[in-house]
Amino acid sequence: MSIRLAAGDVARWRCDWEAMMRHYQPDRDDLLATGLAAVEQVHGGAPRRVLDVGGGVGTTAESVLQRWPDTRVTVLDVDPALLASAAAALPQVRTVRADLGSTRWPALAGGSYDLVMALMTVHYLPQDRVREWYAQVRQVLRPGGLLLVGDVMPDTPVAERPQSGGTDPWTAWWTGLAHDPAMASLLSERAAALAGLTCADFFAPVDWHRETARRAGFGEATVLHRRTGHALVAFR
Ligand SMILES: C[S@@+](CC[C@H](N)C(=O)[O-])C[C@H]1O[C@@H](n2cnc3c(N)ncnc32)[C@H](O)[C@@H]1O
Repeated sequence: MSIRLAAGDVARWRCDWEAMMRHYQPDRDDLLATGLAAVEQVHGGAPRRVLDVGGGVGTTAESVLQRWPDTRVTVLDVDPALLASAAAALPQVRTVRADLGSTRWPALAGGSYDLVMALMTVHYLPQDRVREWYAQVRQVLRPGGLLLVGDVMPDTPVAERPQSGGTDPWTAWWTGLAHDPAMASLLSERAAALAGLTCADFFAPVDWHRETARRAGFGEATVLHRRTGHALVAFR
């Protein structure tokens, strides 16, 4: 479904999204800048093709394009409302609606990416799916390509995120969106698309990710950034 969103509204939602994500991901700007600099080092310059999985409203994709204007970027997400915001703000970006919990997403994403990124996304998947997900990422990466995973990676496994009683920044962002009449049809499309999907809140330590990625066929794993239970890890 194609819905025209007002540019001003989209800009505001995306700006609020970044503020909200900075709350959940400490040092987010520094973490991303460190990751992109590492990519340049590995590839000897800008990557040609980048896939941002669980890319949301496309603010990470925008940072990628600010740094590498000629790079072709794909944003993949299961959420039609977030993808609509990404598409409205960044018409040069390819958006793909797909569920990372399915076996179909690699085919929908396409292959030969130089870089796959997943920021604050992997913890949505249950443990078994994360194992398969690492193997699927290898299918879409070109040989020698890089995977960046930035997420909560505590020193010991955590079963669940503490509940905040509905007043957290995430809930506040979605409540704000729901007040906008222009979003009504997209939000009902979203409710249908996300029916049955929940966030697994699976938070595993760096070593678990390293070992799981190794079993999926990745070699080197480098921790690029670490702060208060969060990490950005590069896998090759
Ligand atoms: C916390 S947000 C992070 C978004 C973005 N990476 C960022 O850092 O701004 C998690 C994202 O993962 C997406 N997501 C969650 N489960 C998914 C799934 N099964 N398949 C695809 N995307 C999913 C959500 O829709 C959301 O956009």
